[in-house]
Amino acid sequence: MNIRIFKSEHELDAYGADFIASRVKENPASVLGLATGSSPIGIYKQFIALAKEKKLSFKEVQTFNLDEYIGLSPSHPQSYHYYMQMHLFKHIDIDEAKIHIPKGDHPDPEQACTEYDQLLEQIQIDVQILGIGQNGHIGFNEPAQELISGTHIVELDESTRKANARFFESIDQVPTHAITMGVGSILKAREILLIVKGASKAEAVHKALNGPITTSCPASLLQTHPNLTVLLDEDARRLLK
Ligand code: F6R
Repeated sequence: MNIRIFKSEHELDAYGADFIASRVKENPASVLGLATGSSPIGIYKQFIALAKEKKLSFKEVQTFNLDEYIGLSPSHPQSYHYYMQMHLFKHIDIDEAKIHIPKGDHPDPEQACTEYDQLLEQIQIDVQILGIGQNGHIGFNEPAQELISGTHIVELDESTRKANARFFESIDQVPTHAITMGVGSILKAREILLIVKGASKAEAVHKALNGPITTSCPASLLQTHPNLTVLLDEDARRLLK
């Protein structure tokens, strides 16, 4: 496990963007696993800047997003489809056919999970970007007695709905369910880049990286990955041994 601590958000984002950009330059047809939320936004901004300066092309890159809310259409401003368009895709030269995001508005969400797994079976993600929930979730794999390997429907924890309510007008509007890639698919990635910022994540970081490997902290399973890089700011590393 490679842990890096940064004094400023800008330095962290620049390191993260360089990390992935170097992989894409080595292999222009890289497969990237993408996350939404606030953690990767700075890295996506740097991708956009690199793409505008013609220093990085996403033309051949394939992307697989971790998750999507059930019941929100791609045009809903809080859907992860919309987030990805706004924060990355519409600003870069990516081929739309190479973008994959679970279909939260599929009439049969179980079928949407099966179809997503069929796609994931055909590839290996080269670099998986992850954030972490305050409760230790990765993707939307919430703490539970058992974790699921493949793409599945999940009922969101109350704590996750509360944390994400900041993006909605009220908590009642936060969907109760989502589709998420499973921990098996996440751990199958060649490399994982975990990005964590802020004091509210310090406890989760401590449990994930110092604590026992347990399904009650899904991120602790990352300790089993042979190629994990963790980027932390000073606040997020506070409790780390
Ligand atoms: C988002 C995702 C989640 C977030 C996590 C942290 O696609 O899968 O696991 O990475 O909830 O969210 P932020 O970055 O908003 O603190």
